[in-house]
Amino acid sequence: MTPAEQSLKTAEICRLAPVVPVIMVHDLAQAAPLARALVAGCLPALEVTLRTPCALDAIRAMAEVPGGVVGAGTLLTPADVKAAKAAGAAFGVSPGATPRLLDACAELGLPLLPGAATASEIMLLLEQGYSVQKFFPAEQAGGAAYLKSIGAPLPQVKFCPTGGISLKNARDYLGLSNILCVGGSWVAPQDKLASGDWAEVEALAREAAGLRS
Ligand code: 3PG
Repeated sequence: MTPAEQSLKTAEICRLAPVVPVIMVHDLAQAAPLARALVAGCLPALEVTLRTPCALDAIRAMAEVPGGVVGAGTLLTPADVKAAKAAGAAFGVSPGATPRLLDACAELGLPLLPGAATASEIMLLLEQGYSVQKFFPAEQAGGAAYLKSIGAPLPQVKFCPTGGISLKNARDYLGLSNILCVGGSWVAPQDKLASGDWAEVEALAREAAGLRS
């Protein structure tokens, strides 16, 4: 799958809702009810980070939830890409980009949202065909003001910024012409997952889904 084809797919996924929940699952039993709550709250695209032992099984469980589009985040190596694909991930997300990681996504056919934080990193990915990228870590790397400036010379690159984004500052990003959506963990807080408060997660999702309206 070429980078251009990957970006077409990730653009489609990023346009599903204003927010992609960035999810960390510590207990596999949380996976399906969490996905159901987020999808019910109108956030269908979900990123499950490969940072916990049960992350791949969580992707498997969440991929069964009707209406969800489940991706794997924190992809660092070709082995991560292979495992994510085998678990049924529909897309991948990485904090940065390396040639080996990009090659693996092309070979295995996993649409990747590759991470970049500087003009040169963005240009290198664009040169390869990635016109949709993750801007990470968004707030720490310069925030919405930085992305607005990047949009002047590089308007053809569209972003999903993540890192430090919440309900408070999401609109600063979503108002920019080069932003397709934002990613954030605030819609899937660990305390609500631990207590199984799915109604509250759904309410958080609904609030996030309304950010563009
Ligand atoms: C991450 O990879 O952890 C994401 O960027 C989410 O960041 P956040 O927890 O600040 O939303």
